[in-house]
Amino acid sequence: MTITVRDVHALEILDSRARPTLSVAVTVEDGSTWAAGVPAGASTGSGEAVERRDGDPARFSGHGVLAAVASVNEEIAGALGGRRFESLAALDQALIDLDGTSDKSRLGANAIVGVSMAAARAFAASAGVALWQSFAGLIREPRLPVPHFNVVNGGVHAPNALDFQEFMIAPLGAPSAAEALRAGAEVYGALRRRLVDRALTTGLGDEGGFAPEIAQPEEVLALLVHAIEDAGYRPGRDGVALAIDPASSELYDEGIYHVAGERFSSDEMIERYVAMVDRFPIWLIEDGLAESDWSGWVRLTDRLGDRIELVGDDIFCTNPTTIADAVGRGVANAALIKVNQVGTVTETLEAMAVCRGAGYGQFVSHRSGETCDDFIADLAIGTGCGHMKAGAPARGERVAKYNRLVQVEDAERLDYGLG
Ligand code: PGA
Ligand code: ZN
Repeated sequence: MTITVRDVHALEILDSRARPTLSVAVTVEDGSTWAAGVPAGASTGSGEAVERRDGDPARFSGHGVLAAVASVNEEIAGALGGRRFESLAALDQALIDLDGTSDKSRLGANAIVGVSMAAARAFAASAGVALWQSFAGLIREPRLPVPHFNVVNGGVHAPNALDFQEFMIAPLGAPSAAEALRAGAEVYGALRRRLVDRALTTGLGDEGGFAPEIAQPEEVLALLVHAIEDAGYRPGRDGVALAIDPASSELYDEGIYHVAGERFSSDEMIERYVAMVDRFPIWLIEDGLAESDWSGWVRLTDRLGDRIELVGDDIFCTNPTTIADAVGRGVANAALIKVNQVGTVTETLEAMAVCRGAGYGQFVSHRSGETCDDFIADLAIGTGCGHMKAGAPARGERVAKYNRLVQVEDAERLDYGLG
């Protein structure tokens, strides 16, 4: 795989939350152009690569990305234009060197990740393979991931009373990606009917899940079990399991977690999770504790690590060094994988390789602010990571990723599932 960059060009577009983001295109020597849309988070970890936002209150309440667009069109285009790269790793390293900071704040992680994603597509094309195939064998052999549909939204993704951010349904027992999508959509429909029956709103949060006025997470979990049964599936690992992302860094203040108006210590949160796992078919908890609560994370991992997957999101920020540190300290047993959190595709693959080497799971993820770019579906398939979350089985920017799974499944003979 080799490319010679002819041009790099970005422009300001809108994301799914009516905020500006970047569309980036890389043109190579044969004139072909490869594009990417840049995602953006709302419940971000403090260790994330730093987005460049304009901060001009007269435009998009300060969220404009014209400076990041200029980073691409001027500095990055100037530095990369006319250069030949032997690998995506070499191109990503050129971006990191050009930026010169440890957190990508000078050029902007949003500028850099867009170039990296678009370049990954250009490299795959130069090798004559689909994007997912360009990742094959780097971590594991390709397989179709279990989609984790976020069907109830709370936290900073919805204005309701629910403090936990994400409640996901995971068709672990489905025989194929197509049947998993069907299960996700049917349970989503059954859930809507349950909400209507209880006169609860069917308005949606940022990731396309319902945002009902329910405060207690256990009440949502019970509702989901009923919706799974209504739709004709078995709740559990052999059918449709549950997963949650409380995004608990957002609930944490001076050593105390705040849930539905009540205060909890780390140990009280851990015991609450144990009770939830005893009572409901939860197979995965992401960010059960806050990014700064490392000692709590060790105890959480001791208590539940052999029963369920414990995914670190804010605490790791897809950073290979942080994950390696966590492995040594017995923190979590899986990492969330977000390309824009670390800022290049190459570093994302490094984070996944660290996880793989340590026996940690890798859970590929979208962001709450998205475009219709389906890059993460190819990343999840090609790396064989086994599971992916991209929001609800509704809204165009979410289903773009899920539909890509069934398109690849239709064209290729690949296994489905956690593996
Ligand atoms: P974000 O949230 O994309 O808004 O940061 C997603 C998550 O916490 O997993
Ligand atoms: Zn998260």
